[in-house]
Amino acid sequence: MKSVGIVGVGTYVPEQIVTNHDLEKKVNTSDEWIRSRTGIEERRIASDEMDTSHMAVKAAQKALLDASMTAEDIDLILVATATPDHVFPTVACMVQESLGIRHVPAMDLSAACSGFVYAVVTGKQFIETNTYKNVLIIGSEKFSKIVDWDDRNTCVLFGDGAGAVILSEVTEGRGILSFELGADGTGGKHLFVDNKTNFVAMNGSEVFKFAVRQLPESCMQVVTQAGLEKEEVDFLVPHQANIRIIDSARERLGLDRDKVSTTVTKHGNTSAASIPLALFEELEKGAIKDDDVVVMVGFGGGLTWGSICIRW
Ligand code: ACO
Repeated sequence: MKSVGIVGVGTYVPEQIVTNHDLEKKVNTSDEWIRSRTGIEERRIASDEMDTSHMAVKAAQKALLDASMTAEDIDLILVATATPDHVFPTVACMVQESLGIRHVPAMDLSAACSGFVYAVVTGKQFIETNTYKNVLIIGSEKFSKIVDWDDRNTCVLFGDGAGAVILSEVTEGRGILSFELGADGTGGKHLFVDNKTNFVAMNGSEVFKFAVRQLPESCMQVVTQAGLEKEEVDFLVPHQANIRIIDSARERLGLDRDKVSTTVTKHGNTSAASIPLALFEELEKGAIKDDDVVVMVGFGGGLTWGSICIRW
């Protein structure tokens, strides 16, 4: 079987920074509450003109450059998003048009904050089976348009942004070593977009309990499946929702703080964009190096979850 890995990464975040102090002026909250309960200090919020597809295009352009590829090389486009510009055309089709990609298949994939992991695993199957060579995967979200800015329970948590990767065949023994995906529809009621208001509704403590249970469990599954011990994991890139959830997964894997991504502090929860955004930052910093074993883990609405163990 072919080895499939990430050969290019690119991101985009909007310019506007909204700090916790900015939010103190809008709702009854405090910087202290937000920091201590979530770890979030600030988030990026997109302008009215900048929708999910625009951010997706910007991230994809950078990923193509990083992979030394052009639009011509892409054989499949998958966009993970819960906040598409329209029900259809999909963000993936809009990206195809903007980047001048050939008439290859393009589709959106909806698995809330686990969407990026789901999309990477889906793309991997097509490469392994020799169907396609290069797959463009994007996680892009404009959560600010589905957040009730008068609801302190949710508005402090989310941010906007996009991250993209290119998946291709890599040297044997590198790339994705194992994956695990899961869903529990009975928990759908704890985190959803209300059809009447079109806003995110959430039972924070139930989602918290689910995440603290499922994240470490899923990480351990992919590590074991890859034939590794947890001590062999070099870096963890978890979905960035809450620093306390991240810490619980870190502790279970026995990793030091500097081996775990915590970009939630400056991005907030960017849903399907959070893992590629965090991955890019760690690569830029040199925190993830060649040959490192990296675990990426997502969880979110559905309820859904998924992990990937990858040798960089
Ligand atoms: N500022 C001040 N007080 C607040 C705020 C705020 N922004 N938000 C809630 N509160 C209050 C509530 O009103 C409540 O007050 P009460 O006790 O008087 O009723 C109290 O704080 C809530 O306290 P806790 O429930 O103890 O808060 P907790 O420590 O659980 O933190 C949080 C809440 C941050 C939401 C946490 O539960 C969490 O992160 N859950 C996971 C959420 C998540 O990850 N969601 C995204 C999933 S990804 C996706 O698919 C979109």
